[in-house]
Amino acid sequence: LTTVAKSLLAEVDALYNCEAEALTNPYRTYARLRKEAPVLIYRDVAAVSHYVDAHAMLSNTTDYSNSRSLGSHVTALAASLSPEARAMLLECVRFHDRWLVRLDPPDHTRIRGLAHRVFTPRRISGMTETIQIITDQLLDEAQAKGPTVDLIDEVIYKVPLMVVGNMLGVPAADYERIHQWSKTVAVFISDFGNPVEMFATLKDFRSYLAVMIEERRREPHTDLLAALLAPDETGDRLSAEELQAIFILLLFAGHDTTTNLVGSGLAALLSRPDQLVLLRDEPELIGNAVEELLRFEAPNQTIHRYALRDTRVHDVLIPAGMSIKLMVGSANHDPARFPNPDEFDVRRSDTRHLSFGFGPHFCLGQALARLEARILISTFLERFPQASLAGELKWKPNLMFRGLEALPVALS
Ligand code: HEM
Repeated sequence: LTTVAKSLLAEVDALYNCEAEALTNPYRTYARLRKEAPVLIYRDVAAVSHYVDAHAMLSNTTDYSNSRSLGSHVTALAASLSPEARAMLLECVRFHDRWLVRLDPPDHTRIRGLAHRVFTPRRISGMTETIQIITDQLLDEAQAKGPTVDLIDEVIYKVPLMVVGNMLGVPAADYERIHQWSKTVAVFISDFGNPVEMFATLKDFRSYLAVMIEERRREPHTDLLAALLAPDETGDRLSAEELQAIFILLLFAGHDTTTNLVGSGLAALLSRPDQLVLLRDEPELIGNAVEELLRFEAPNQTIHRYALRDTRVHDVLIPAGMSIKLMVGSANHDPARFPNPDEFDVRRSDTRHLSFGFGPHFCLGQALARLEARILISTFLERFPQASLAGELKWKPNLMFRGLEALPVALS
C-alpha cells in the first residue's frame, strides 16, 4: 500500500464511494490500476484489474470461493454496525450465499445441474416471438407518448422483466413490485450498504414466493418455476429455500443486468453516429455489436470472490480470508488483451469479454440476455432511424452494476 500513489487511492475512493464524476468514466482509474497496482489491497478488499488474472481466477474454485458471507469485507462491515443492523446484514448475506452464483462445488454443481436442465436453448429460442411482440408494443406506446421519452423507463426495463416474469410464471400485475424489490437487491449485492432495507425486502420477496411455490405444488403448471420444482431423473429436487434463492436470482439477474446492457448500449451507439451508420448499413452486424457493447460497458463491472488460502497474484499476496473484486470493466479494457480498448467498434473481431464471467459460474442466462439485446436494439434502430440523445446521461450510483438512471431520447 505504501508504494501506491495517494492520487490513485483518492480515485479508487471516489469509485468505491460511487461518486457521480468517477462513475462517468471509471475506465481512466482502471487504466491507472492496471499500470500502478494490478492487485490493490485496499478497504479490506483485493481489486484485480488485469484480464489475464481475472480470467484465471474465475475458473479457480480451489483457491477462491464464491461465498460472500465469509470474506473480510463483510466481517469489517458487520463490526461497524449496531447489533440490530448487524443481525439483519448477516441474515441477508446468509440467504444471499444460498444463491446459485454464490455456491461452491459440490453444492454449486448439484444446483446448477438442476437449473440448467430447465434453462434449455429450446426454451430460450422459443421466446423470440414473445420478445419481438413485447418490444413492438412498448415502442408503439413510447411513440404515442413522444416525441421525447425516457427509453429505459418506457421500454427497456420492461422487456426483460416481462420476458423473465412470463417464463417463470409471475402474474403481470406483480412485475412492478418485483422491479422495485430488485432495485434494493442491486444496491445490497454491490456493497451490502443497505442491510435494513434489504432485510425488509427479502422478507416480502420470500413470502411472496412461498405462496407462488405452494400454488405450483397444488396445481399443474408448465412454467419454469413448475419445471424447477420437479425432481430430476435421480429423484433429486430443490429444497424450499433453494427454490426461493434461485427464483429471486433469476428474476433479479434476468432483468436488471439486461436493462443496463441495452440502456448503456443504445447510449453508446446514439453518441457515435459513425457506428450507427455501420449498423444501419449492415444490420447483420447486430450480434457483433451486442458483444462489443458487453465488452465496452460491462453491466457487471465487478465479480466477487473470497480467498480460501494464501495466493500470489501479480506478485502480491492475497491472504486467506480476503474478499476479492475481479474488475471486469477493467479486464474488458485491458490493452494487453484488446487493441485500442477504449475505442468502440461494432466490427471488432475479437470481443471475448468477461462480462458473463467465465468457468463454472458462466452466466446461465447469457443466451436470453443476448437475444433480448439484439431484438431490442435492432428493432429500435430500424423503427427510429432519426433518434438522438435528448439530455445528459447520469449513471446509477453503483460500481458493480453499471447502468444509466435514464435514457432521454428524441424519437424523431
Ligand atoms: C446482460 C445481461 C447479463 C449479464 C451481464 C450477466 C452477468 C453474469 C455474470 C458475470 C455471472 C457470473 C458471476 C460470477 O461468476 O460470480 C452471471 C451468472 C448468472 N446469471 Fe447472468 N447476466 C446477465 C443476464 C442474465 C439473465 C437474463 C439471467 C436469467 C434469466 C441470468 C442468470 C444468471 C444465473 C442464474 C447465474 C449464476 C450461474 C452460476 O453461478 O452457475 N443472467 N451472470
